[in-house]
Amino acid sequence: MFTSLRGLSGDLVEITVNGAPLQVVAGQSVWSAMALNGFTVTRKAAVSGQDRSAYCAMGVCFECLVEIDGLPNQQACLRRVSAGMVINTQHITEASEVYHAEL
Ligand code: FES
Repeated sequence: MFTSLRGLSGDLVEITVNGAPLQVVAGQSVWSAMALNGFTVTRKAAVSGQDRSAYCAMGVCFECLVEIDGLPNQQACLRRVSAGMVINTQHITEASEVYHAEL
């Protein structure tokens, strides 16, 4: 569905998306790496559970939130891939438990 207009070249790094190991070009956005490999769902809507995906691809809409290395609410369109990064579709619902760090 998605292809790169520039062609992708450069050093490859391995990341994991929803448990799948992928070789992607270092420095591209998390969203780009996901979409080019068929992972177009970034999160599930908190109330309806519907699939959501990147919309603006420039940091404005927050539709692209994913979990990166265990940290939720990361904007896939703004974050750059790096070696060893673990990315998961975010599924936070009203029933999700919230943890607050001790200050
Ligand atoms: S796609 Fe809109 S903020 Fe990432």
